[in-house]
Amino acid sequence: MSQKTVTITDNASGKSVEYPLREPVHGPNAVDIKGLYGDLGYFTYDPGFTSTASCRSDITFIDGDQGILLYRGYPIDQLAEQSSFLEVCYLLVHGELPSKLALERFEGAITEHSMVNESLKNFFNGFHYNAHPMAMLTGVVGSLSAFYHDTIDVNNNENRLLSSYRIIAKMPTIAAAAFKHMQGEPFVYPRSELSYAGNFLRMLFARPSEDYEINPVAEKALDQLLILHADHEQNASTSTVRLAGSTGTNPFAAISAGCAALWGPAHGGANEAVLRMLEEIGHVDNVPKFIEKAKDKDDPFRLMGFGHRVYKNYDPRATIIRKTCHEVLSELGVADDPQLELAMRLEEIALADDYFVERKLYPNVDFYSGIIYRALGIPTEFFTVLFALGRTPGWIAQWAEMLGDPEQRIGRPRQVYTGAAKRDYVPLHKR
Ligand code: SDX
Repeated sequence: MSQKTVTITDNASGKSVEYPLREPVHGPNAVDIKGLYGDLGYFTYDPGFTSTASCRSDITFIDGDQGILLYRGYPIDQLAEQSSFLEVCYLLVHGELPSKLALERFEGAITEHSMVNESLKNFFNGFHYNAHPMAMLTGVVGSLSAFYHDTIDVNNNENRLLSSYRIIAKMPTIAAAAFKHMQGEPFVYPRSELSYAGNFLRMLFARPSEDYEINPVAEKALDQLLILHADHEQNASTSTVRLAGSTGTNPFAAISAGCAALWGPAHGGANEAVLRMLEEIGHVDNVPKFIEKAKDKDDPFRLMGFGHRVYKNYDPRATIIRKTCHEVLSELGVADDPQLELAMRLEEIALADDYFVERKLYPNVDFYSGIIYRALGIPTEFFTVLFALGRTPGWIAQWAEMLGDPEQRIGRPRQVYTGAAKRDYVPLHKR
């Protein structure tokens, strides 16, 4: 079958050039314009990359109009219902669902790497107790490269896989240590017999003075939330990891850059911002006032947890989390959580408003997740850390895929220069 192409004609010169189409398994075709500048002397201009594919990827597919999310081809609702977070980590990193033996070996490897070097704990002493946990996570994750400099040759497949396992295994231990530092409590070490989610809950909440019993409802809900956050194609933090990794920097530095990007309230910081927004709204009677603020172009306020660059329909993750919210809250005995009631009324009122309907602004993954995190006893400022924990396998799988892609080079976008035209220096005495 002949190669499909698109012809671009420069009206100024009358020159026409054909560009090949990259045809995906799912999603729109892409015009391969790598040669455009050389052929016609033009750049493309696409701030925010609304129409730009930065890479090809086998990992995750999103259909924003249909509200579809696939990890390696498997629908997110099936994985959330039937899989486990570690099985999803294996799927994202290795590309296929594991056999029983392969999963056991993977779980064993993650358990084996869950401890961190004891001296890494010293980094936390440099933070005040009220340091934002994302500041601690970003800093300490980056410091891992100081401990594993002998196995971070990014051109070595074994090193890449070992680093991938290490970061998945150590992220909860570091995250929980940040939480304990905030609480002024001693760090809790991971235990080999516990599940990933169970271990994390115990490292967060266990204290030397008493036994800690893992609540199975909380363990299952957390495991599902981690699955829902595991990857999301080329979102801002994943693109950051890819761009940082494209320079050849080590995986821990690249993941640390991903943490920094995720922290922003327009991205992974939105789950924390949603709870703060609900606290500020306070009562359903105040919702119309905040809806008007969100619509006011002169007001920077946006309805946190609403809207998405890709989803122009309901975020499938929000649908699943909304359902889990009701189940978890009633099983935890907080069914009449006023914040959940307020969130549902806010959603109902917003989705009846033309402004949100016209712009296809629906609740996204962050709108309900914070309500469950809060019910699990996790403080608001820690919500984005949980997002980072969930997104780690996606970040590291995308990083490894980028390094293995023969078409990938160092990421180096161009620009449209709108500054001062060339001019001569004016000596100080003449200014
Ligand atoms: C995540 O990319 C990913 O995949 C991200 C993520 C992942 O898993 O990695 O899904 C996780 O980041 C989810 C998004 C969490 N962020 C928030 O909930 C913050 C609130 N949402 C907005 O900041 C915004 O919707 C974004 C950032 C999510 C999307 O921004 P876009 O695609 O750049 O959309 P836009 O700013 O061009 O908005 C289009 C219009 C504008 O109005 P007009 O200029 O057309 O009149 O919609 C308006 C915006 O003002 N708008 C909102 C709004 N979001 C968009 N108005 C009020 N409240 C909002 N939340």
